Amino acid sequence: MDVVSMTETARALVAPGKGILAADESTPTMQKRLAAIGLESTEARRRAYRDILFTTPGIGEFISGVILFDETIRQRSAEGTRFAELLAGVGVIPGIKVDQGTVPLAGFPGEVVTEGLDGLRGRLAEYATMGARFAKWRAVITIGEGRPSATCIESNADGLARYAALSQEAGLVPIVEPEVLMDGTHSIERCAEVTKATLREVYVRLASHRVVLEASLLKPNMVLPGKDCPDQASPVEIAEATIAVLKQSVPTAVPGIVFLSGGQPDLEATLRLDAMNRRGPQPWELSFSFGRALQAPILRAWGGDDTNRDQAQAGFWHRAAMNGAARHGSYSPDMEQQVTLSRI
Ligand code: 13P
Repeated sequence: MDVVSMTETARALVAPGKGILAADESTPTMQKRLAAIGLESTEARRRAYRDILFTTPGIGEFISGVILFDETIRQRSAEGTRFAELLAGVGVIPGIKVDQGTVPLAGFPGEVVTEGLDGLRGRLAEYATMGARFAKWRAVITIGEGRPSATCIESNADGLARYAALSQEAGLVPIVEPEVLMDGTHSIERCAEVTKATLREVYVRLASHRVVLEASLLKPNMVLPGKDCPDQASPVEIAEATIAVLKQSVPTAVPGIVFLSGGQPDLEATLRLDAMNRRGPQPWELSFSFGRALQAPILRAWGGDDTNRDQAQAGFWHRAAMNGAARHGSYSPDMEQQVTLSRI
């Protein structure tokens, strides 16, 4: 894919009213998610769960793309179609997680750096032949006593830039994900300061690695008080703090910003995204690339029992529809009751 096609793909991923489903949980993370509903994680069960998500009737109405994990892009639906092909067939763009998780950053206790650059060129080429049109790499920044260090921010930003350049070389749109975790007691102001410093460094490194910003997307955290901070913030405060940080750090050549949910309750994530879009227009599309905030209710409804398939799919469609409304700034909590779940 050339730069023009990659730019078109990046724009299609943030089309109005749509966002991305992150279904790229690694095998250990999927084990945690399934254990939380009392299930053992087997390859067959992970496949069955993803099958339910991806075959939801009407998925393409609000979902522009799905991020897959290595195991999933190699799996097939119950009907025998490869998942990437099945998604593309209903107008949903398949993508792939290409980082290999985090490891402790030597010399910096409590900080991590993301691995996965070794052999990445070859893996990207293979994923492209399997139908992936975009990629994702997640870096993790923690806030705490003396953290984050400048070294941690710089090392992670460099990894993101090297990954993004390799992705574009392979014709895949890079989603650049520097996540400042919400764990801790820090204030929203501290999160704003750390997120701004991180994003600024990320864009310095992307420029030095000659990444074409028009053919990339950013996947950041929202600017939030720490989970254990006594002063929590309203959706409006979060929206304003987040937009202020983005304006100070993200070039306008970037077509879209797709937020991660990062452990926020699902309805809160929707409300906060909606509050941001009520403050539009902004220089970039403000959208979602949620994992937990889209999947938590569906995992519960399914519970490992395929006779609950319709209910689980209805729940997924509903959450996607609510976030689709938040893309326009037209969501209201009343819609949670009103939107019919019998649609499917
Ligand atoms: P969450 O929305 O659950 O944070 O997942 C998004 C993601 O892709 C994390 O890398």
